[in-house]
Amino acid sequence: MITSYQRFGMPIPVVVAGTRFGQFYAEAVARNPRFELVGILARGSQRSVEVAERYQVPLFTDVDQVAEVTKFVCVAVGTQALGGQGTELGICLLQTGLDVLMEQPVHYRDLVQLARAASMSKRNFHVGDLYLNLPAVRQFVKMFATLSAISPPTHLVCELANQVCFPLAHLLVKMTGGAKPWSFTEAVAEPDAPIVQLGGKIAGIPVSFTVHNTVGAEVADADMPLLFGITVGFGSGRLSLRDPHGPIEWHPALTLPADTLIPADLGCHPSTLLDQDTTCFIPPNPLSLREALARQWVDALSMDMDAWRKSTASGRAVGLQRAFAAAELWHEMTSRVGAPRPVAAAAMGIDWETVEIARLRSMAWPQIAAESNVTSVASAVAGLDRAAELSMAALLGMHAELRTGMLLADLLDSVEVCPATAHIPRRWIRRLQESGWLTTVDGLVQATPRLRAHLDDLWMAADRAWEEAKQGWNHRLGSPQVLSYFRSHLENLADLMAGKMNAVNLLFVEGSTEQAHALYRDTMIAACLNQYIGAHVAELAAECREGLRILEVGAGTGATCDVILDNVNDLDPASLAEYHYTDISSFFFAESRARHRGDGRIIHHVLDLQDPRAFIQLDSQFNVVVAAGVLNNVVDVVEVLSRMRRVLAPDGQIILSEAFQESALMLLTQAFMMSEAYDLRAATDTMFCTHDQWLASFEAAGLSCIEHWPPDDHPISVLGQRVYILIAPENQQQEEL
Ligand SMILES: C[S@@+](CC[C@H](N)C(=O)[O-])C[C@H]1O[C@@H](n2cnc3c(N)ncnc32)[C@H](O)[C@@H]1O
Repeated sequence: MITSYQRFGMPIPVVVAGTRFGQFYAEAVARNPRFELVGILARGSQRSVEVAERYQVPLFTDVDQVAEVTKFVCVAVGTQALGGQGTELGICLLQTGLDVLMEQPVHYRDLVQLARAASMSKRNFHVGDLYLNLPAVRQFVKMFATLSAISPPTHLVCELANQVCFPLAHLLVKMTGGAKPWSFTEAVAEPDAPIVQLGGKIAGIPVSFTVHNTVGAEVADADMPLLFGITVGFGSGRLSLRDPHGPIEWHPALTLPADTLIPADLGCHPSTLLDQDTTCFIPPNPLSLREALARQWVDALSMDMDAWRKSTASGRAVGLQRAFAAAELWHEMTSRVGAPRPVAAAAMGIDWETVEIARLRSMAWPQIAAESNVTSVASAVAGLDRAAELSMAALLGMHAELRTGMLLADLLDSVEVCPATAHIPRRWIRRLQESGWLTTVDGLVQATPRLRAHLDDLWMAADRAWEEAKQGWNHRLGSPQVLSYFRSHLENLADLMAGKMNAVNLLFVEGSTEQAHALYRDTMIAACLNQYIGAHVAELAAECREGLRILEVGAGTGATCDVILDNVNDLDPASLAEYHYTDISSFFFAESRARHRGDGRIIHHVLDLQDPRAFIQLDSQFNVVVAAGVLNNVVDVVEVLSRMRRVLAPDGQIILSEAFQESALMLLTQAFMMSEAYDLRAATDTMFCTHDQWLASFEAAGLSCIEHWPPDDHPISVLGQRVYILIAPENQQQEEL
């Protein structure tokens, strides 16, 4: 039946019943221009009052009130099977003359009652299942169909949480065109195990299910170990949907040719399977659960609403047969698997603080870096620079006068600075000139047309640029946490500049080192440089009979130390005699001591590189002196390098990792933690030594660089940091004498 709303293209008024999952529907309605949210139907709890307020619609507690404002209701209230009253509510709404879209799961018995009520009152009833509409699931269904048309699937392997058994059954019904005939073996479970195994056949395809048969003791679906994943076997390989949000993977089958010479002749064997990647990920973009819930779920519900709208118009109940089959299959599976075991949320054992996903990801950084290309990394860096530059322009208060031009001194005067930050606006202006945002005409600083286009709302332009930069940064160069840390400088720029806030507090929020770990360990550049240093030190350790004596200065959070220790210990723990873990502050030592508890080789002490007495107190010579991301912090690198040389054993090496180029991002962030240098950088008025300045500084300190990494053509070279390996020829000569 076509309603007058549809006929005239007006949005269809909708009421959403239920306010827990119902909020997703409310959001979907709010975002779908073909519908208009006109009320919330609930029992009147505090949450329902808040939801109605949030969407600025009335809260109804009675079905008759709903009938006065709409003919369409989305019901997101648990059905009888989940101990809720969704079924009764759905029947009541249908009998009152309203169309109903009801969110899964719905028990077969309830479906029969609801379908009957719909048919008797000539109303449209539709079962919603957002999972079937998720992009990865839809893609998987299409791929499954394509492959099945070529060769029939050999088997299915499914892993699921019992809470999503209905959508998985629904998906299997969709994939196999009805799932029937099906059969099951007896379920198998160890007495206390959280999982139950179930075998059988679906549409004649052998299948095995691993069901996580637990349920949140308080809220059934608040804590779930997983949603579901399916692997389908084909003669030529396996197609896997790892999670309803992806990824989809293809693993080719291993079919070794019957040749005599393997692997010698593999290279010339004609099998195309042998040429396939061992794993192919589709799609490549990772998605956070936050993004999945806020975006994909809402969009998926919106698709169900559109399907419901169309079926209302055509008078045909679309997908109801499939929902019936899914409900039947669901019932069969859950009755075999048995009642889930209630588990208290804490017992689910997930302490997200300690699940260091970023750490796991950082282990893959060297590989990701090797597979990246210079252009993509360079464009991500350019995006960050653009965002940083627009933010600088915004803070400098680029105003109308810049259209015609203003004196540099006036521009500088417009920013409140303290002695420690006085150099920063000057550098910002130079940076903006170099990158084409500002120019100088007749002695006046002027906005270029590029900047003029944004002058009216620079903060908004900067915000947009940061959002764009996110695409290049998140999970490609570092974690979202690092980008948030960079951006946290923006909210505090005026205070940082005026010296009213210490930038260190933005990095170590409330004393936590979490952000610093994300920055110093878990960015692509940090992980790659640290890994390079770790491997290099392990090589030195392999050659050192007495065990290496290592001094690390500015060891901070231990990002480099930990990688070195991993590498050296893998080789042979005895290949390390002592590791002096030092920093200007003892702030980091407690965490490090806890990490290295019981390891007598690690000695913690304070060492200030800029204190001439600090090195004299060290009574020994070291095989390796490490300084990772530290030396640019000192005001005279030559002086400090010379001190480091003096504690170096004759065949010792100094290993540095350092920035070698200016960056707008650093000028906006790290600059607030650094002092103005009076070494070679003073002449160029820069924060970081260039590559040539580093080489000149090494030479001036009696050191010679025997290696640096990465080379210029490496994908990460555009990130502007590298490892320098130095020796002291003078020390070696003295030893020979
Ligand atoms: C940019 S962080 C380097 C990251 C560090 N390697 C890590 O893994 O956390 C700089 C480190 O150098 C230390 N530092 C700064 N100035 C120093 C100085 N004058 N002497 C010794 N350490 C210093 C800081 O305390 C900080 O831990």
